Amino acid sequence: MKQPTILIMGGSGNTGRPLSRLLLQNSEVNLALGGRNLEKAQNLASEFNREFEGNRVKGIQVEAADVKSLHSAFEGVDFVVLASSTTEYIPLAAQAALDARIGYLDIQYSSRKIRFLKEIETLIQQAGCCFITDGGFHPGLPAFMVRYAAQFFDEIELARVGSVIKQDWRNLEVADSTIIELLDLMNDFEMSIYTAGRWKRLSWVSTSDYIKMDFGSEFGRQACAPMLLEEMRALPALYPALRDTGFYVGSFNWFTDWVIMPVAMVAMKLSPKAAEKPMARWMHWGLKAFSKPPFATMLQVDASGRKDGQSTIVRINISHGDGYMFTAIPVAACLLQYLDGTTARPGLWWQALCVEPSRFMSDMERMGIKVSRNSGG
Ligand SMILES: NC(=O)c1ccc[n+]([C@@H]2O[C@H](COP(=O)([O-])OP(=O)(O)OC[C@H]3O[C@@H](n4cnc5c(N)ncnc54)[C@H](OP(=O)(O)O)[C@@H]3O)[C@@H](O)[C@H]2O)c1
Repeated sequence: MKQPTILIMGGSGNTGRPLSRLLLQNSEVNLALGGRNLEKAQNLASEFNREFEGNRVKGIQVEAADVKSLHSAFEGVDFVVLASSTTEYIPLAAQAALDARIGYLDIQYSSRKIRFLKEIETLIQQAGCCFITDGGFHPGLPAFMVRYAAQFFDEIELARVGSVIKQDWRNLEVADSTIIELLDLMNDFEMSIYTAGRWKRLSWVSTSDYIKMDFGSEFGRQACAPMLLEEMRALPALYPALRDTGFYVGSFNWFTDWVIMPVAMVAMKLSPKAAEKPMARWMHWGLKAFSKPPFATMLQVDASGRKDGQSTIVRINISHGDGYMFTAIPVAACLLQYLDGTTARPGLWWQALCVEPSRFMSDMERMGIKVSRNSGG
């Protein structure tokens, strides 16, 4: 049987590399690793072909900003994963995937992307394509964590998801474009939570709405700031008893959070083009200079509600020592469900909302994510 070919845009990047390895380990698919630097993509493909049997990987050159290049890269491909730092060009890539009638998954946070995908949603459905958006861990996992926790309740009433993001940036090669995207994200995100049964929009200075979550012995209590993820919006309709939910993002380090980011956000608003490179370099320096162990990326849901007529609380914590593995593993677990048909339906879907929860969690655990669950009355 002919195996599908998945193109991973950014296949040689920090997320693309572990994602490719996970797919080679856990499926029979063929891979095309795409990026502007052909030599880098081909060298990595050769490395994988030495490690895995069947000559299943090739490197190709593709420029995400160039429609012609995207069209030619998508020829002979069944599915594209956008794991490149090319948020700005997602509409081009999504349109090219639709033109080529192939499957699609992206992992970038962007409100503009969501608006564009919603605009073409009917066309995606009519073309019979399966588009999965907001893959990865954040976006990608917070609403899934609430869905997973909901299984332990008859009625889930409160579910707050917090994160710890302590990555060792010191020896990590990160493209300028990736840090610029991180800065753009700071200016893009909306601070909304669902409280007392309605959505409430907050400002980043309203620190009284930040939460302190207890992440256990290694990280202790950490302050987390509200961050609206599109996937969270669906939860109140799914769980009518839910009165309080939200995603709360953890800090990088005090200097980057409270000195670099506020200055960078203002500079990016005043003069985005002039500010982006120096601010990105300063931010990269801040991430490296203040990086200190322990390192891990973690998501935790603290939920409460009713089970068998009793008040119940549930805490589920998932983590990985490497933030890029924590991004790649959910994407691989989602793609396994696409490949076996579980999530392969025409239309526009959110990773966090379309995966079958129990299998998704057990696949992630098998691929190296640590899972712990505590419950009580
Ligand atoms: N959802 C989540 O949980 C999550 C978590 C982490 C990261 N992300 C997102 O994932 C993306 C990748 O992050 P990363 O840290 O893995 O990036 P990275 O390590 O800096 O790698 C970027 C990759 O993108 C490719 N690339 C850059 N510009 C390109 C272009 N114009 N055309 C084609 N390929 C291009 C690069 O290859 P060449 O240099 O060869 O072009 C490289 O392979 C970012 O957008 C980031 O925001 C999401």
